[in-house]
Amino acid sequence: MRTEQPVTIRRLDYTPPSFLVDSVSLAFDLLPGGTRVDATLALRRNPVADSGAPLSLDGEELTLEGVWLDGEPLAVGRYSLSESGLEVRDLPETCTLRIVTRTTPEANTTLSGLYVSNGNFFTQCEAEGFRRITFFPDRPDVMARYRVTLRAPRERFPVLLSNGNLIARRDCEAPEWLAAAHDGEAPGAGPATPEAWHEAVWDDPFPKPSYLFALVAGRLVATEERLATMSGREVLLQVWVEPGNEDRTGHAMQSLVRAIRWDESRFGLELDLDRFMIVAVSDFNMGAMENKGLNIFNTKYVFAHPRIATDQDFAGVESVVGHEYFHNWTGNRVTCRDWFQLTLKEGLTVFRDQEFSADVMAAQAATQAGAASARAVKRIEDVRVLRAAQFPEDAGPMAHPIRPDSYQEINNFYTVTVYEKGAEVIRMLQTLVGRDGFRKGMDLYFARHDGQAVTCDDFVAAIADANGADLSQFGRWYSQAGTPRVSIVGSHDARARRYRLEVRQACLPSPGQPLKQPFHIPLVVGLVGPDGRDLPLKPAAACAGSVRRIETAGGQVSAVLDLTEASQVFEFEDVAEAPVPSLARNFSAPVVVEHACDDAQLAFLAAHDSDPFNRWEAAQRLATRCVLAVLDGAAPAGRSAPLVAAIARAIDDPHLDAAFREQILALPSEGFIAEQLEVVDPVALRAARDAVRGELARGLAGRWRALVHDLGSDAPWTPDAATAGERALKNAALAYWVDSGDADAVATAQRQFARADNMTDRVGALQALLRAGGEPREQALAEFEKMFADEPLVMDKWFSLQAAMHRRPGDPPVLERVRALAGHPAFSLRNPNRVRALVGSFCHGNLAEFHAADGSGYAWWAERVLELDPLNPQVAARMARALDRWRKFGPERQAAMRAALERVAAAEHLSRDVREIVTKALAA
Ligand code: TRP
Ligand code: ZN
Repeated sequence: MRTEQPVTIRRLDYTPPSFLVDSVSLAFDLLPGGTRVDATLALRRNPVADSGAPLSLDGEELTLEGVWLDGEPLAVGRYSLSESGLEVRDLPETCTLRIVTRTTPEANTTLSGLYVSNGNFFTQCEAEGFRRITFFPDRPDVMARYRVTLRAPRERFPVLLSNGNLIARRDCEAPEWLAAAHDGEAPGAGPATPEAWHEAVWDDPFPKPSYLFALVAGRLVATEERLATMSGREVLLQVWVEPGNEDRTGHAMQSLVRAIRWDESRFGLELDLDRFMIVAVSDFNMGAMENKGLNIFNTKYVFAHPRIATDQDFAGVESVVGHEYFHNWTGNRVTCRDWFQLTLKEGLTVFRDQEFSADVMAAQAATQAGAASARAVKRIEDVRVLRAAQFPEDAGPMAHPIRPDSYQEINNFYTVTVYEKGAEVIRMLQTLVGRDGFRKGMDLYFARHDGQAVTCDDFVAAIADANGADLSQFGRWYSQAGTPRVSIVGSHDARARRYRLEVRQACLPSPGQPLKQPFHIPLVVGLVGPDGRDLPLKPAAACAGSVRRIETAGGQVSAVLDLTEASQVFEFEDVAEAPVPSLARNFSAPVVVEHACDDAQLAFLAAHDSDPFNRWEAAQRLATRCVLAVLDGAAPAGRSAPLVAAIARAIDDPHLDAAFREQILALPSEGFIAEQLEVVDPVALRAARDAVRGELARGLAGRWRALVHDLGSDAPWTPDAATAGERALKNAALAYWVDSGDADAVATAQRQFARADNMTDRVGALQALLRAGGEPREQALAEFEKMFADEPLVMDKWFSLQAAMHRRPGDPPVLERVRALAGHPAFSLRNPNRVRALVGSFCHGNLAEFHAADGSGYAWWAERVLELDPLNPQVAARMARALDRWRKFGPERQAAMRAALERVAAAEHLSRDVREIVTKALAA
């Protein structure tokens, strides 16, 4: 690998392409050791670009075999070839350019471009992988029609797939170049006895950017379903997997059907192709990819069978299937002008998949109250991810606005900020204009921009124009990084019967942004009266202009406040007794709310708030304060009493459903608590959190035992949300019960481990046994490995659980186990899921062990990053981010982390991906 000079790409440097591509015809002769690509581009000079500009084609790791202009070989002087592409001068206004290239899929370990996994061919083109397949203007604002011919040996590659509609399939001759290569004994030419070849021709009627191109070739089988869309068109749905996995595709297919129906009913958006395919692959850099009509998925987000997949895995499949399907409109029909606009498609599509999952979960609930708490559970899960991963990103060296201003490697900007914070920004837009207003805005967006490559500003303009709203200040969410802090002081004036909220907002500097302007923040608030019910809300005249609306639903009364200034005051009239304010209901904005209130008020909200999200929030705040106090030296037993009481109340509340109760009793993560501290000592933090856990475990031991027994049904596993919630609660209770030190608990966990008929209960029991430590832990791990040695996705769990394990008294450091696991025959740096399971779970998911005071974790991290980088820079860069927050630690750890970062930065050969991460981490 070449060491690349860092080049910064800037958003404001955007220039339109010099040429447009009206259509492309691609012919592939597919062989793992050497694939030939014959591409013909119909080109037309872009009317809005500079007239004399040359045609600039991107291309990487390609062997050029020939170039023809309008049928004639192109003179060598007319083009120049570099490491990064091909430039062609003096082209006519319209022309066709034919380019023949070679690549070596088998040698491609980056999993970007065309590669081989388990003997089959796959592509991954987003963001810039197409340039590793052929020379092309590989940028999303060049949208072309594609016709694709795939030729391959018939026996080895019986299935040939690409985007759009299948036009023809037939047997064919082996390509001529292959016979010629045979004579010359060229490498990669295939077996000596000639194989029979076949070909398939695919045509995609929709113009698309190159990042949405895909092909798949190999030995695969499909599960199929036919369906009539809302306008009555019949479509064919397929889920393709390697033979033997057919019995695990049902849930993905059902999820796809639900996603299609949901987009029809919620947004009036219909599937536009006759055929929609999902293909599962076990070597994949991310979750899945929305290629037009041919989604390619990590097996993790397709395979769902209770024997191997947990309830969480089932939910993951549903949300990712939804996500990729929803991209067909938000991403594919309307795409991004340039990669700085990534959140245009990703934030919006995450918002859509979140809403989809929430609606499906709510629909499965038996009662209205159940539906509300099912929605809250989904919201809580999403907010946990945001706080645990996005808030730290926004406070660290990689902080960037959801629409970044610059990057060195775009793959490093597929971040929780662009995705999850981006989704929060869309959700705020919906809160501001209301659900119906948001739908009107979406309709206008598609009416204006279908078939175009556009910007985030175009999206916001559509929402604003459809609602006559002024969203100019709201645009700052797109340009400013950092998590705003909203501090609120409430006061009650009994004589004037008024309640007053003084609200201030501020945002800390982030790289390149020393000063922030106030954000436009929708703050949804309620006032909870002494009887636990919401008070009616009458805004005083002086602030009425900043009260967008009052919402009343069921027993809930909330005001949607427009925060637009650094400091504002809101007053409510006719408030006889002092209420407790319920702030940022349903997490109405991605901000940190600071509000001084005592444990009693938090316990009161946890018991009574009409907003279930804020009931959970109050309990979390109680727990966070408790852990922080213990960390500060408070005695765990005394300090935990209010938390223990609040959690006992939630467990005993018959009106709360199981999944929601489980959320209440799960303590905030170490990562989240760490962000509340100036200087983090992860070892002390774990000890404090575990001490609080211990108080809950022992203080409520009787309840844990009862929950495990009451919920430990012998009924066979079913996939519905209600029983999934019960399993989650039962398994959380089992882990607490084990922590209480009761020997019965360990025996119960062992029994559940042995007898479970589903992976949720099996892993739930295993997690409890990991907490028990000693022989029970080792026995269960050995047994689990034996049971699932031939199930890669389950072995990922086995690696991951051990890497994230807490140390029990007498245990050696977890790094010793992790080192041994890295030498396990089933471990491989070439499989991203495996790398995430071991390296990711240890470096990102086991704070106390990774940050061992002797720096051993950091040294191991540097070795793994350097070892992985030449194989797969994208995944190496993800792992490299484990040291982002190095400045948050004490001086010794900082020194050791800096040394590890410098060691990586000093490597002679480093990818652009990893270089950007480590240099930004080291920068001031
Ligand atoms: N666009 C994809 C999604 O959101 C994710 C994606 C981006 C991706 N780059 C990728 C997937 C590279 C695999 C490899 O769903
Ligand atoms: Zn996406």
